[in-house]
Amino acid sequence: IKADTLILFGATGDLSKRMLLPSLCALHAEDLLHADLRIIGTARSELSDNDFRNLAREAIETYLPDHRRGRMAEFLNKLSYSQLDVTTPEGYAALAEKAGLKEGDNRQVAIFLSTAPSLFEPTIKGLAEHGLAGENSRICLEKPLGTDLESSCAINDAVASAFSEDRIFRIDHYLGKETVQNLIALRFANMFFEPLWNSQHIEHVQISVGETVGLEGRADFYESAGALRDMVQNHMLQLLALVAMEPPVSFDAGAVRDEKVKVLRSLRKMEPDESVTGQYRKGAVDGQPVAGYDEELGRDSNVETFVALKAHIDNWRWQGVPFYLRTGKRMPERVTEIVVQFRCVPHNIFPGAKLKQNRLVIGIQPEENIHLSMMAKVPGIENEGMTLRQVPLDITMPDAFTGKFKRIAYERLLLDLVDGRQTLFVRRDEVEAQWRWIDSIREIWEKEDRAPKTYAAGSWGPSKAIALVERDGVSWHD
Ligand code: BG6
Repeated sequence: IKADTLILFGATGDLSKRMLLPSLCALHAEDLLHADLRIIGTARSELSDNDFRNLAREAIETYLPDHRRGRMAEFLNKLSYSQLDVTTPEGYAALAEKAGLKEGDNRQVAIFLSTAPSLFEPTIKGLAEHGLAGENSRICLEKPLGTDLESSCAINDAVASAFSEDRIFRIDHYLGKETVQNLIALRFANMFFEPLWNSQHIEHVQISVGETVGLEGRADFYESAGALRDMVQNHMLQLLALVAMEPPVSFDAGAVRDEKVKVLRSLRKMEPDESVTGQYRKGAVDGQPVAGYDEELGRDSNVETFVALKAHIDNWRWQGVPFYLRTGKRMPERVTEIVVQFRCVPHNIFPGAKLKQNRLVIGIQPEENIHLSMMAKVPGIENEGMTLRQVPLDITMPDAFTGKFKRIAYERLLLDLVDGRQTLFVRRDEVEAQWRWIDSIREIWEKEDRAPKTYAAGSWGPSKAIALVERDGVSWHD
């Protein structure tokens, strides 16, 4: 069922300004939103409807390209504002009235919490006590959903006390990326991947998420997270689950999430020598000198800004296939990619030729492309006519689909929230399986009292991360 009211908590915050309001405006410009959808912003500051509209206009002009801002005045007219301190009961009644819930209308409300997770519990209580958590309401939560399994369960319990699971939408913005959804299409809309997609034919998988940015002024948050919790627990495990899952019976929320959770539950408990942590020191990124994490923070810290892991999935399909994951801040480039390395051919009939293994590289960002390296004959009659070389088979998505522009990941997710589609949102059992595995890794680090290895900003992490794969005869994809 489509929602006709969207309530944004934390409407004056960073996420709202950079992502949510621009995404909503872009959806409106394309006529993708329900024509009657009203959007109510709430936050602690005292603002009039007009002040909020001005704030929204400024955010949209800053973060949404000019050609996507059509019908902006009409969009701004959909916005109104209700001041509310989530920890006190006062504001909720006014909000309920603004949302039209007082009149007993049959309204459908979508509530987006882009506030600090510490405010989730009081907010849910306030919503429940003021008739905003009834059957006609759905709720959307932003990460971080806890810092470990226990705190994540506490948040999930609090939400579940007022909303049933089919009305809870947990965001992992990676699932909103076109390129990540395309991974599902590639695997399950083509015949030739599936028969090869198993331990018999695949030697290993690499998932890398490199970022050039550093702390970005988020010291408090990052100190309570680190790369493992900030990136691996959610985004990277979602990518891993999409690569490794069994074919779902349909694209329904239940079917897709059932398969993902099976993968997450099959993650083997990690050995101490299967993870490497790092923290950046000063160096250069894009030719510009940058400070070290300790300097940015103004003190020493044991929080990792880089992590590399060797993961195993204990099920029939993936037995014996390592999944190498790495992510870090202040890497040489911003790149997210998945590398699927196939096994050697069982027998080489070309005695003089060294056959390179096939490699499928799925580029997620900054550009989406698919690259398959394969062996081919070099034209000519030298060397008895059979000189072989590795050649690429390349597809660049923007070339294949010209005229399509890049969307903000939140556009798809906000539309699905408002329209009531849950496939691209994370179910409770997925989050809990993710945390269970992450906690077991952190336990090892805590037991060892592990300090991250340092690496120069602008490098691909500490040398131990290279050694982690080299001892298996593997190199990270360049
Ligand atoms: C967020 C993390 O979830 O994802 C950030 O908190 C990170 O630290 C960001 O920079 C990366 O997202 P994207 O879309 O830029 O790859």
